[in-house]
Amino acid sequence: MNNNNNNNCKFNNISNNKPLNIAVLVSGSGSNLQSIIDAIKLKNLNCKIIAVISDRPDVFALNRAKKNNISTYVFDRRKLTRIQLSDLIFETIVDNVHLIVLAGFLSILEGKILEEYKNKIINIHPSLIPAFCGKGMYGMKVHKSVIDYGCQYTGCTVHYVDNGIDTGKIILQKIVKVTPFDTPDSLSKKVLKEEHIAIVEAIKLLIESEKLV
Ligand code: GRF
Repeated sequence: MNNNNNNNCKFNNISNNKPLNIAVLVSGSGSNLQSIIDAIKLKNLNCKIIAVISDRPDVFALNRAKKNNISTYVFDRRKLTRIQLSDLIFETIVDNVHLIVLAGFLSILEGKILEEYKNKIINIHPSLIPAFCGKGMYGMKVHKSVIDYGCQYTGCTVHYVDNGIDTGKIILQKIVKVTPFDTPDSLSKKVLKEEHIAIVEAIKLLIESEKLV
């Protein structure tokens, strides 16, 4: 069976109402992961987190996974090249996972994972792409730039992951009003609240579209 058929048969699960198997990639606190876990518990999301994979040890996201009996894996980015990390992740999930969700994941994927999971990897970014994104634009840097530019709105974006940095097709966005009293910290908190809604909505959208493309 060629890969394409394989992919198609993978997605038959979705039309049979079986939960979508997802892997969540993390690098930090895992609050976006938590919003997915909570949505599944509340039966707002028909999917199963098969694995949580971190590119660094001792991040709180791993605690969240263990507390919810989700398998965890750590591939330390300090000891691996980009391609080694990407291939390890691919080998870990390739047989069981329909969708890969980057939730606060800070490493760049490359190689076969991007080919085999084309249009099946999504990322959440804390700005309204194409503004304030790309190489080096993450975390507080994003929110400081938004304030320094005097933007009146910011927000977050869920997009497909391709071989660029924050360049894949946009799936959905949420907007946040910027007030003159906002600091990067206060803005990051407002945006993160919207991220938690956006990431769940995006996964739901992909499940319901049954396309994942
Ligand atoms: C978030 O601030 C988000 O902007 C970006 O990664 C950061 C950490 O997210 N995606 P999390 O709490 O680890 O999910």
